Amino acid sequence: MAKIEIDEFLKFVRERRTIRNFKTDPVPDDTVEKILEAARWAPSGANAQPWEFIVVKDPQTRLKIATLYADYWRAIYDIEKSRVEDLKHQGFTTLPTGTPGFVNAPVFIVVCADPRTYLATVLIAYLCDGEGGPKATYLKNVANATTLLHLATAACGLASQWVSVDRSWEGKLKSLLGVPHELEIHTIVPIGRPAYKRPGVYRRKLKEIVHHEQYDISRFRSEEDIVAYVRQLRKTSRPNYKRPSGDTWA
Ligand SMILES: Cc1cc2nc3c(=O)[nH]c(=O)nc-3n(C[C@H](O)[C@H](O)[C@H](O)COP(=O)(O)O)c2cc1C
Repeated sequence: MAKIEIDEFLKFVRERRTIRNFKTDPVPDDTVEKILEAARWAPSGANAQPWEFIVVKDPQTRLKIATLYADYWRAIYDIEKSRVEDLKHQGFTTLPTGTPGFVNAPVFIVVCADPRTYLATVLIAYLCDGEGGPKATYLKNVANATTLLHLATAACGLASQWVSVDRSWEGKLKSLLGVPHELEIHTIVPIGRPAYKRPGVYRRKLKEIVHHEQYDISRFRSEEDIVAYVRQLRKTSRPNYKRPSGDTWA
């Protein structure tokens, strides 16, 4: 069984950070292939492997994708803006201008997946919502592959961003990239060298999230606790959306 030093592994797991602006320096094709190879080995329910990836390097296509994202962001801005100030997502404190910083990343990996692979899931999962049901299982499978893309990128000393694609602009993206109707696009992962210093990020402590033998009910969080938690979370995350360049795109 292959083995890597756990402290070495933890180092890049901890150092992996979402970066939202990139240097334009190219990423070699063999590096991209290794990153994709890592994703190929992701675990999936019933080994369904719903993922497919589109590697986009063409600057015109990258600009079109980033512009679609910017248009989407401006359209949803007012919805998030309507939330009470201290619960508002930290990426929505100001309406950004220009093009999202991720446009500069020399490579985008567009994560597509085929929901018809539900068919591989055991029948009981349809009936008893195993793993949250077939749709959830499919999404977890896609997320596993996406996480491995990020970890492998970090292992190559590069940075990445998790850019969500929602159904409101997925159709336009599918047309642009020629993706068949049956498949879905979930995420864009721009990769490249970071354009700014890796920010710190908050994580809950192990002692807050790990229980031994039984759930420690004294640590159960009430509704009020969760609201307070999100308020605090927003405060800790805000600095991550401020870049030296002044852009605030998320
Ligand atoms: C399901 C999911 C969706 C996300 N969507 C976005 C996104 O659309 N834009 C973005 O900039 N970051 C996005 N992120 C990145 C998170 O904001 C980021 O992982 C989190 O703030 C923790 O920071 P870290 O990745 O640096 O540890 C997403 C992450 C996940 C797992």
